[in-house]
Amino acid sequence: MSGGVINTGRPFRYYQKVFFNKQSKTKILQSLQGKKLVDIGCGYTPFAPDSMFRACFDEDIEFYGVDPIIKETMKFKPSDEFYTRLTGGAGKFDANAPGVERALSAMADDLPFGDEEIDTILSCWLILIWINEEPELLKIFSEFLRVLKPGGSFNLYPLPDWHSFRFKNQELKTLLRQFEITQHFVYEGFNLQYPPSNRVTFTKK
Ligand SMILES: C[S@@+](CC[C@H](N)C(=O)[O-])C[C@H]1O[C@@H](n2cnc3c(N)ncnc32)[C@H](O)[C@@H]1O
Repeated sequence: MSGGVINTGRPFRYYQKVFFNKQSKTKILQSLQGKKLVDIGCGYTPFAPDSMFRACFDEDIEFYGVDPIIKETMKFKPSDEFYTRLTGGAGKFDANAPGVERALSAMADDLPFGDEEIDTILSCWLILIWINEEPELLKIFSEFLRVLKPGGSFNLYPLPDWHSFRFKNQELKTLLRQFEITQHFVYEGFNLQYPPSNRVTFTKK
């Protein structure tokens, strides 16, 4: 992945719009009871009080954040808070936020979870945006296949039309056949935070 990435802490309502079809917060949290979720490339979300991570923690839902930027002692710069406000968050971080033990320093292709342990993976603004080399995608999607329960899914946003992708790597194409792939168009008017694009859902068969 190339440099120049900004790290953000997006609020719950962002996830509500891009991953949960704008259902009410209560409904979303009820539907996630007893499930284990992971946000890949979560940025500083686990430290933001208005995040989905925090909302899940408060409702006793296991929601993990995975990102190599996570350190044992987190220090935030004013620019981090600025970027978070720019992307719709409150712009405040707490290095000792409740539940931070579920913020894990790891890479998408080497996850600290057992086989078939995870119900749902969410990932925004990372895979097929910043990471698009096929050998790397193969490693990441293989890892998702390993940790997901049968019937579990990984969800990527924002993506162009899924059918526009033309992968060449044969192993990657074969691996993708192990998922049922659907897409949902997310449109929020002319708002740069939500470019008119798709959430693509890969459900493990
Ligand atoms: C553009 S930011 C997106 C952050 C957040 N998901 C959002 O929507 O604002 C990409 C994040 O992915 C993380 N990242 C980069 N490579 C990664 C990898 N291989 N596995 C997991 N996270 C990665 C970066 O550290 C960064 O926090």
